Amino acid sequence: MFTLPQKDFSAPTTCLGPACMQDLGSSHGDDLEGECSRKLDQKLPELPGVGDSAMFSPDTSYLSSRGRMIKWFWDSAEEGYRTYHMDEYDENKNPSLSQSDMQRVEPSLLQYADWRGHLFLREEVAKFLSFYCKSPAPLRPENVVVLNGGASLFSALATVLCEAGEAFLIPTPYYGAITQHVCLYGNVRLACVYLDSEVTGLDTRPFQLTVEKLEMALREAHSEGVKVKGLILINPQNPLGDIYSPEELQEYLVFAKRHKLHVIVDEVYMLSVFEESVGYCSVLSLESSVLPLFPRCALCRLPDPQRTHVMWATSKDFGMSGLRFGTLYTENQDVATAVASLCRYHGLSGLVQYQMAQLLRDRDWINQVYLPENHARLKAAHTYVSEELRALGIPFLSRGAGFFIWVDLRKYLPKATFEEEMLLWRRFLDNKVLLSFGKAFECKEPGWFRFVFSDQAHRLCLGMQRVRQVLAGKSQVAEDPPPSQSQEPSDQCR
Ligand SMILES: Cc1ncc(COP(=O)(O)O)c(C=O)c1O
Repeated sequence: MFTLPQKDFSAPTTCLGPACMQDLGSSHGDDLEGECSRKLDQKLPELPGVGDSAMFSPDTSYLSSRGRMIKWFWDSAEEGYRTYHMDEYDENKNPSLSQSDMQRVEPSLLQYADWRGHLFLREEVAKFLSFYCKSPAPLRPENVVVLNGGASLFSALATVLCEAGEAFLIPTPYYGAITQHVCLYGNVRLACVYLDSEVTGLDTRPFQLTVEKLEMALREAHSEGVKVKGLILINPQNPLGDIYSPEELQEYLVFAKRHKLHVIVDEVYMLSVFEESVGYCSVLSLESSVLPLFPRCALCRLPDPQRTHVMWATSKDFGMSGLRFGTLYTENQDVATAVASLCRYHGLSGLVQYQMAQLLRDRDWINQVYLPENHARLKAAHTYVSEELRALGIPFLSRGAGFFIWVDLRKYLPKATFEEEMLLWRRFLDNKVLLSFGKAFECKEPGWFRFVFSDQAHRLCLGMQRVRQVLAGKSQVAEDPPPSQSQEPSDQCR
């Protein structure tokens, strides 16, 4: 297939596992060559299978030592891959390895590719995000890494940005699975910025995030000896359905820059803003008019572009959570490279990459068919559930984005405890309604629940019937009808 460069790598080496046993001269094109091309006479590793992390890429201050080590694995093999992809072998079109214009797409989709993702896909993603995020300058494919979903991206970013035990600030309530995403591989923690429903001081809405609250949470984390490396913002927010204004985003980013914190901006619901009056602003759209202190140019339009990392995925906006597609946009090449290195384990198959590119480039269908229809359906479903809740006299929060309503069921708890919240959740579950309880989002006030409304009308109708029954204390657990009947909506819900 191709021969790896016989370069004199200065980084320490360890070949990983059985790959080392392979004959370097007889490459099998199986992606293990990179590991085995390292010099074998270098410094002995500190950890089993891994070199002395202090010696990896000492020129970058953006990555944790683990991130530098992960990036080093990439760097050590990259030259060979880059050379190979620039002049890829093709039996008919490039038999002598002298042409670079390989036309046939299909066979290459079955081969190892750039772990950042095929260039054709990263170009589409850059165009797609430039258009939908309304970036002031075209976004660049080299800043794009594609991988298998938002969860993997959280995991990868946490691993390459933080040392084990370090933390990200995150405002609560937040999409609770992030706790696992950053912890399971990276052993990274979350330092909560606890927000509450009471509107006090200069707040204009419940659960409002302010710089004062961020500063306080940061101080608290420091006083507990926790090193904070970054801030996670979800916009549109899950579970609140909130949207940050450009001015708020600016304030948060300036706060982060002041403390040299990375900011991961999770925009996986950016195309699910179904209320037209809600002006959504992607962090990638910020420009100098919003950030007067920062001149307008591709690289410096954000307060700290090297520490601002944006994620998007198709799981929500295209309802394709099973396809597993997510993307990172970052101008920080160290971070992009370190994440790409982890794409060996999180990368997308060539076939999915091809399909994704086809989808993302079909702008006419997305704009004229898909998004209007999707927004109309989300709005109808949202209107229905909101009206039901209003009729029940139940307070809720929702600003016209995302798939959920944040519902205040505190008055249904006999005592304001998380045990009572759990008991109420279980009563819903026993009556075949699956809601999410506030504790799962680290909400500090017991009694909040997340209702997902992105479902078909008759199912929502049936769900709301059951919610009413539970709240009226008429639990159906004992006298539940047989499954065939219990699954059927009543006439009202057809
Ligand atoms: C805010 C947010 N970010 C990320 C994810 C994870 O997305 P994925 O399915 O692409 O891993 C979710 C999924 O619910 C989410 O709500």
